[in-house]
Amino acid sequence: MKLQQDAIVLRRACSGDVPALLALEAQFPGDRMTARQFRRHLHSTSARMQVAQCGDALVGASLLFFRTGSDSARLYSLIVASSARGRGLGGQLLRDAEQAARDRDCQWLRLEVRTDNTAAIALYQRAGYCVLGQRPGYYDDGAAALRMQRAL
Ligand SMILES: CC(C)(COP(=O)(O)OP(=O)(O)OC[C@H]1O[C@@H](n2cnc3c(N)ncnc32)[C@H](O)[C@@H]1OP(=O)(O)O)[C@@H](O)C(=O)NCCC(=O)NCCS
Repeated sequence: MKLQQDAIVLRRACSGDVPALLALEAQFPGDRMTARQFRRHLHSTSARMQVAQCGDALVGASLLFFRTGSDSARLYSLIVASSARGRGLGGQLLRDAEQAARDRDCQWLRLEVRTDNTAAIALYQRAGYCVLGQRPGYYDDGAAALRMQRAL
């Protein structure tokens, strides 16, 4: 796919996006969300699912969770289509999620990332996230997670 950065629009996900979200996730080996989970998050006030659209194609997504009474938000998922990687979209989606967390008065953004996911760890470190610790066996296949956070 030819991707023109200026043609990318970030917007809130809607139920019509679910098939494309499933296809996007399928490009990334790891724990998968079901269509039902996506639909539940779309209608939840404690979740914010954002997508990046380029023409007719969905080329990225992020999922943020909020908790009542908590000053931290959790970035549960961040994904860019294989064809669109390496051109700044991951960073753009991350900044967009951070702004959404600030808008909800959060002071911190937290996330988990596989310890072997060098691309994502580099992205987060570059964006100012530091390592809080590790969670052994966090993923379904037994892989460990790094817990990271940044002050907003
Ligand atoms: C991680 C991911 C979202 C990055 O998206 P992206 O659009 O390619 O990222 P960007 O182009 O915005 O890159 C921003 C920074 O991330 C780092 N980065 C991105 N891809 C990288 C790679 N393959 N190797 C090393 N660093 C990388 C770099 O520091 C880069 O900054 P630079 O280009 O100035 O050097 C994307 O690779 C992806 O969707 N991976 C699969 C899903 C995933 O792992 N999500 C994170 C789960 S916690």
